[in-house]
Amino acid sequence: MDTMEKILSRKSVRQYKAKPVPREVINEILHAAMSAPSAGNERPWHFIVLTDRALLDEIPKFHPYSAMLKQAGVAVLVCGDTTLEKHKGCWVLDCAAATENMLLAVHAKGLGAVWCGVYPTEDRVLNLRKLLNVPEHIVPFSLIPIGFPAEDKKAGDRFDGSRVHENRW
Ligand SMILES: Cc1cc2nc3c(=O)[nH]c(=O)nc-3n(C[C@H](O)[C@H](O)[C@H](O)COP(=O)(O)O)c2cc1C
Repeated sequence: MDTMEKILSRKSVRQYKAKPVPREVINEILHAAMSAPSAGNERPWHFIVLTDRALLDEIPKFHPYSAMLKQAGVAVLVCGDTTLEKHKGCWVLDCAAATENMLLAVHAKGLGAVWCGVYPTEDRVLNLRKLLNVPEHIVPFSLIPIGFPAEDKKAGDRFDGSRVHENRW
């Protein structure tokens, strides 16, 4: 499949098979994440690879939309290092770009994932920081459970011509 097909067919996957995701594949996905564009090439990201069952099970206790973590063998927490930011406010945008790169890489590898929102919901940020010993200057941004898909979701066409403007609004 080519890149356009992958982008157009990506869907959030929230059910996973018990089959473990090889660590080499996670490393490839992290490679894709770190290839994302960033403001002034600041690359403010850090990634916490979570495989500890007890930790994965703890998160849905404070994150109401992350129940799929109980099924996932692995999840990646994308974090932003605010001290690496060269352009004010851009760490968030950079981490979003890295997150989307990960989702597309996951899909390209035949795996499934979903973006679980963390930042800017304060209690999720604080709870994850506490659970995973994340230092103050590092902000948990998004959490991505990854697994072999146990659901087959087809993407519909979301193109909306009314959102496209030519030259002026
Ligand atoms: C910033 C952000 C936060 C999200 N948070 C969650 C979440 O906490 N839990 C979840 O199941 N899905 C979450 N999603 C996934 C969206 O629900 C999903 O992308 C949207 O419904 C569109 O579906 P699709 O990804 O299958 O195209 C989030 C997506 C984004 C971009």
